[in-house]
Amino acid sequence: MKLFVDTASLDEVKRASEWGLVDGVTTNPSLIARENVPYRKRVLEICDVVGPGKAVSAECIEPEFDKMLAEARDIAKWHPNIHVKVPLTPAGVEVMARLSPQGVRFNCTLIFSLPQALLAAKAGAKFLSIFVGRVDDMGSGEAFKTVEDAVDMVNTYEFPNQPEVLVASVRSPLQIVEAVRVGAQITTAPFKILEELFHHPLTDAGIERFAKDYQEALAHAARNA
Ligand code: G3P
Repeated sequence: MKLFVDTASLDEVKRASEWGLVDGVTTNPSLIARENVPYRKRVLEICDVVGPGKAVSAECIEPEFDKMLAEARDIAKWHPNIHVKVPLTPAGVEVMARLSPQGVRFNCTLIFSLPQALLAAKAGAKFLSIFVGRVDDMGSGEAFKTVEDAVDMVNTYEFPNQPEVLVASVRSPLQIVEAVRVGAQITTAPFKILEELFHHPLTDAGIERFAKDYQEALAHAARNA
């Protein structure tokens, strides 16, 4: 399973890359807006930090087909790591159908249902970004049903670019556990949620106990020397 970090913060991308666990980065206009830096510049900085072969998603802003097509063509040329993010709209689907046969890789975003995932897969998306947090925020409890069905779909049928299901809009480690359980190929999570994955009280207690036992053994050896 691939783990992406969902951020536009260069510090967070650097730290997560140092762990050696990060397979890619997802950004979106809201995350970039928080950083107060030019969009293209920050995306290129992220590409440099993560290194070759890691997927970096950069999102189109233009809603209309003609402008989105031009924007997607431009973003795709920024860097070899780029996956162009387009929303699941008729324009986004048409842009993917037009450019994916030319080798542009797409992350189709704002997917909330299986029919939407099907449209994105057929249009040539590489990543199907299903937003679980925003659905769970509404209290429906159905977020992972869509993920599970989409995983079955991509494992059952052939699509143009062998799409992968990407669990996005993650709010808690529990949603990552659920993503693993249903066999999602990718999860993207905010840096603070990735950090939380490390923690378990028994790990902390175990480290403390090993250190204490070791110091006691050294002291015992010194006394008997
Ligand atoms: O990057 C897409 C997604 O992860 C956004 O999440 O927290 O704005 O629902 P959120």
